[in-house]
Amino acid sequence: MVNTLGASASMGLDLELDDLWVSIGDKEVLKGVTLKVAPGEVHAIMGPNGSGKTTLASTIMGKPGYKITRGTIRLGGVDLTSLPTYERARLGLFLISQYPGELVGVSFFDLVREVDKLGLTSAEITRASIEREAIAIGLSKELLYRSVNVGFSGGEKKRAETLQLATFGTRMAVLDEIDSGLDIDALRDVARSLARMVSETNIGVVAITHYSRLLKELKPDFVHVFANGSIQRTGDVDLAFELERTGYKEVSA
Ligand SMILES: Nc1ncnc2c1ncn2[C@@H]1O[C@H](COP(=O)(O)OP(=O)(O)OP(=O)(O)O)[C@@H](O)[C@H]1O
Ligand SMILES: [Mg+2]
Repeated sequence: MVNTLGASASMGLDLELDDLWVSIGDKEVLKGVTLKVAPGEVHAIMGPNGSGKTTLASTIMGKPGYKITRGTIRLGGVDLTSLPTYERARLGLFLISQYPGELVGVSFFDLVREVDKLGLTSAEITRASIEREAIAIGLSKELLYRSVNVGFSGGEKKRAETLQLATFGTRMAVLDEIDSGLDIDALRDVARSLARMVSETNIGVVAITHYSRLLKELKPDFVHVFANGSIQRTGDVDLAFELERTGYKEVSA
């Protein structure tokens, strides 16, 4: 399989959410989400705190505890609804969490070795090519030899997660507030790296964000306003700038 660091073929897959309803315990959080993301498309999702954006991201990735009560999730035509997270990852789905987890005792290169055994990295992947990509993302090489995310700053975690995304054969990326914790330079480096993956390997991107500044570099084809558990409105990038002026009062009322 090819990937971003040595890719040439088109790698994107359609992500299709059809009337998705999700509960956590007794609480109904997602209430009929319908969304189609085609290869090479960037979709931004913006919406108030607590509206269900992270729940949506976690459900797409198959995090336990999120009960789908109605609707389906498909990737490249494959129904993900009952697949465990690792199988979704093997199909090319990659989630960067709002709060990335730590892997005590596992370095980035340990991770690459394990993922390689699953056939998810390409022959072109070398220590040198990974180090080159790390430099492009502004991630210090030294961090590749430490336990993943352990003791990393907020911004270092987001850069390290982006490097994983670029390395592990991603075909559809879900980014949950990748811009939180990033300084101005990091935001530009990470967004440019993601935009390059979109244009070079045709991945699709769902980018959850509170701020339009990410979208100045990672240019979205669509911006969706998410409130009360579903998409309330869809527009182009101008909608993101409008929201920054007006807030969500009208859509979440
Ligand atoms: N494990 C859980 N148990 C109970 N309620 C939960 C759980 N996880 C999420 N919720 C609730 O679901 C709702 C949606 O939360 P979610 O994290 O998806 O919001 P969000 O849109 O990502 O918000 P933010 O912009 O603050 O990140 C909230 O009311 C939250 O309290
Ligand atoms: Mg969230």
